[in-house]
Amino acid sequence: MSSVRATFSSKLGMVMAAAGSAVGLGNLWRFPYVAAENGGGAFLMIYLAIVATIGLTMILVESALGMRAKTDAVGALKAINPKFGFIGGIGILAGSIIVPYYCVIGGWIMAYIAESFSLTTLENFEEHFSTFIASPVPPALYFVLFLGLTGVIVYRGIQNGIEKACKIMMPALFVLLLILMVRSLTLPNALDGVKFFFKPDFSKITGETFLQALGQAFFSLSVGMGIYITFGSYANTEAKVFKTMWPVPTLDTLVSLLTGLTIFPAVFAFGISMNAGPSLVFITFPKIFASIPFGAFFSLVFFALLLMAALTSSMSLMEVVVTFLCDQWKMTRKKAVISYSLLSLVGGVLVSLSFGVLSGFKIGGKILFDQFDFLASNILLPTGGFLICIATGWVLGVDKLNVFHSKAAEKAFAFSVRYITPIAVAAVLLNVIGLI
Ligand code: PHE
Repeated sequence: MSSVRATFSSKLGMVMAAAGSAVGLGNLWRFPYVAAENGGGAFLMIYLAIVATIGLTMILVESALGMRAKTDAVGALKAINPKFGFIGGIGILAGSIIVPYYCVIGGWIMAYIAESFSLTTLENFEEHFSTFIASPVPPALYFVLFLGLTGVIVYRGIQNGIEKACKIMMPALFVLLLILMVRSLTLPNALDGVKFFFKPDFSKITGETFLQALGQAFFSLSVGMGIYITFGSYANTEAKVFKTMWPVPTLDTLVSLLTGLTIFPAVFAFGISMNAGPSLVFITFPKIFASIPFGAFFSLVFFALLLMAALTSSMSLMEVVVTFLCDQWKMTRKKAVISYSLLSLVGGVLVSLSFGVLSGFKIGGKILFDQFDFLASNILLPTGGFLICIATGWVLGVDKLNVFHSKAAEKAFAFSVRYITPIAVAAVLLNVIGLI
């Protein structure tokens, strides 16, 4: 093992990798239906406010911890207090749970790319999708392919793997999204969709709206599990953390906005109801593509976009665990990637089968896929985020972090780390467990 820690080649490389992690299925698939279910414009306003306060706080705290400790999530928290290693451990656990199901969705996307050209000739889109995900072999094989691709990129290391992949894929992703947005905005009645997205309907705001917006912000920004600690540990910049990292939440939010401007006009133009969940992407969209000129082309563009977004996120998820295995258990990168991929392979195949032969196997009334998603995004990420703020704000001290130039900004930041963020997150957690 080399004793010199790898780094990103530049500040830009790190920002791209972090933005790659944040921009993912959370923006392209989860954001539109959560926004739709919670009142469109009203949700959007609250969501933006949360990203700018709590979301930004989490990104800055995590990045600063990583840059300071120059080690994995567990090590960075142990550096605050040896007893805090478990907080990083929650992140490792969250990553280990998200990777299998995230990669299963990645596999579905690959399958839809492979069939792009026949997809638009289908008769029954619902049936096609449900038959596909319930079958035992093809989705599992596509999952393995997606996981393998993720593993290969992570194995290539920080600069040659993740940084390079994100530097190519992130700009490509923007171009593809812009193409789709223009197509969508030029459909008849597109304006109705735009109005729905931007015009706040205040009567729809309830406590639930806040909780949903907070959950969406955590998932979409990839915070709470040590991804930014991990990436921060590979930083090669001494600049203030805010100055380096502000583009990350900005880009993530921009992609969510562009996605809204793509999905809602299309949904309104075709008079389709806003179906929640996977169906929006895998059923509604192919349906739309089937009825527009050059549909197969747009379908290919759309699923290529999803694939890139999902890949740059799955890489970051795997990197958290791989960095942990390398730093704490002194494994070589190769061994870490292989052993972790094998573990994820087992988990992912089980998750994939949970739509078919294993659909009768339920934990807490949920199939494995849903249970993994719930456990990771609704329990582990917020818990991790809460504890990271407590450890930093109350034990380490925010003044030990190198985040802002201005004293006033630093004060506001410290207040957010110590009070606003942990209290808000605790409220969400208590709500999830049913205490609020
Ligand atoms: N932020 C990613 C997305 O929006 C998902 C993710 C969550 C990635 C947590 C890493 C950690 O799809």
